[in-house]
Amino acid sequence: MDHDEGRVPSHEDIECVLLSQADIKGIVKRMGEELAEDYRESNPLFIAILRGAVVFFADLIRAVHCPMQIDFMAVSSYGSAAKSSGVVRILKDLDTPIEGRDIVIVEDILDTGITLNYLIKNLESRGPRSIEIAAFLVKDVPGQRSAVLPRYVGAHVPDAFVVGYGLDYDERYRNLPYLGVLKPEVYS
Ligand code: IMP
Repeated sequence: MDHDEGRVPSHEDIECVLLSQADIKGIVKRMGEELAEDYRESNPLFIAILRGAVVFFADLIRAVHCPMQIDFMAVSSYGSAAKSSGVVRILKDLDTPIEGRDIVIVEDILDTGITLNYLIKNLESRGPRSIEIAAFLVKDVPGQRSAVLPRYVGAHVPDAFVVGYGLDYDERYRNLPYLGVLKPEVYS
């Protein structure tokens, strides 16, 4: 067991570590400062998209030093074919009315942006004052343009399957404290 601060032995299924715990700490601090600066006066509602964003969300809200409230949503896409059609089902809705509120949607990773695009349209119909996205990761896929543009971005990652720090493959690896690229043989 490696007890060096910020270092953890990587899991055998991980090809390489993209963001260490120390990297993530720096990212969260920087994003927290940006968000606190922009939302200092407005008591925003931060919404975590379950389940992948939970780990990032828990760290991020503690790095945003201004008054705020939190709530949660869970959505599911209808498999990969339906996903591209933008059909998204809300599995858990907000408990908080959002009319007139400043909303920050906190997402783990933006790939096509289709899931969030749907969600934003849905939330817009409820009359919030503003909606912005804070994405821990944006996946850079050659030739692909995300359907939504996040205002706050933690890091860009290459077009590979990444896990850890809340992100899963088949509900595994969410508890890894770093972000890594999953070995292709695990899912092929
Ligand atoms: P989008 O609608 O294509 O932007 O898909 C975003 C969702 O797909 C994320 O919230 C994740 O749940 C999932 N996702 C996309 N890429 C990855 C990845 O590399 N690892 C884990 N989940 C991913």
